[in-house]
Amino acid sequence: MNRINFLDLGYQPLANNYLNKNNKNKKEKKYRLKVCFNKITKVVSIEKTFSSKMMFNNRYPYRSSMSKTMIKSLKNLSKLIKKKYKPKKILEIGSNDGAFIKNFKKNEIIGVEPCANVETITKKLKYNTYPEYWSKKLSKKILKKNGAVDLIYSANTISHIKDLNEVFLAINIILKKDGVLILEDPSLLECLKRNTYDQFYNEHIYVFSAIALENILKKYNLGIFKIDKLSIHGGSNRYFIKKIANKRKINKSTNIHKKNEINYGLENINTYKKFANRVKKSKNQLINLFDKLRKKNKKIIGYGATAKSTTILNYCNISTKSIDYFLDTTKDKQNKFTPGTKIPILKYKGFIEKDVNYIFLGAWNFKDEIFKKENIFIKNGGKFIIHTPKPKII
Ligand code: TYD
Repeated sequence: MNRINFLDLGYQPLANNYLNKNNKNKKEKKYRLKVCFNKITKVVSIEKTFSSKMMFNNRYPYRSSMSKTMIKSLKNLSKLIKKKYKPKKILEIGSNDGAFIKNFKKNEIIGVEPCANVETITKKLKYNTYPEYWSKKLSKKILKKNGAVDLIYSANTISHIKDLNEVFLAINIILKKDGVLILEDPSLLECLKRNTYDQFYNEHIYVFSAIALENILKKYNLGIFKIDKLSIHGGSNRYFIKKIANKRKINKSTNIHKKNEINYGLENINTYKKFANRVKKSKNQLINLFDKLRKKNKKIIGYGATAKSTTILNYCNISTKSIDYFLDTTKDKQNKFTPGTKIPILKYKGFIEKDVNYIFLGAWNFKDEIFKKENIFIKNGGKFIIHTPKPKII
């Protein structure tokens, strides 16, 4: 066996399976969430995976446009793409509610988004979007209708798809010989450094390192030519990829990044075992922190009912005994309950109730944006609880 299990996050429900009043008291399906390291390819992935249809369907609640940070990041990227690569035709895999494609003219860009409830948002805006899963079949269909594309962008999507063989074969079908593929996903290096074990949940099959991604890409004659480090989603990498036959220069950021990963030990199982020990410690510290505050009768709420927080809440057994409710701006999550732990999710009305003492940051990856927004709560002495790099009050 090339895959070694190094982290056990216990029984977990599907991370985005928010409960409603009707199914809240029914028995929920839970699955053991274990994380593995492949000794040969260096790929880190979860052990048990689910069909895309179970997770990405017409009830999918996630919306890219929910954060200003995200919108700004995509706007800046669009400017860079236009200036540097001047693409005539772009394809986005996982176009969600259009946060990226809206930066381009309608005849310049094609979106692929299998969650029909989300895809309809961009369809209504008259963008050319396909409500289908990314596959060779779809790639051929788009190629026939629109021709080959100059640039493909995909953020926080490839890491959700188990069959990477299908993904890259489909990309190779439609990407021009001198085309550019830009992938953006959370960085494994940052995940380990920051102890953000909540990057692992059933939708998030892979958390990539550059070395692992390169091992995957070379099978399809693709290679990384540049890596940008991003602060988005708790530390992500933006990989610029080309067909190997293309003569585009390899930027030095590629090797610097790979070296950093190797120096940190991402090729070595012991690094992952040490991480797993830190995660166990983090769990105990978070539980103790909540217990201490509750004993003092402090009122604690959650902010951002993220898929990531599903992992934390279920792994640490945090329920309504610790957190009264979550606030979230996403309509499809409001008046529902967190998967597994059944904490109510309420609509964010633009302020924090006066009686709240502490806020557990489920959306810790948008900390700066949220701190700015909640300056009154902070001024009035309100505090936040965060689990990264270790559980603490800030
Ligand atoms: P996110 O961290 O992007 O993803 P995931 O679910 O994949 O872990 O989710 C952020 C959540 O936080 C989303 O449900 C919207 C919510 N949110 C707020 O409620 N208020 C805010 O100010 C921000 C930035 C996010």
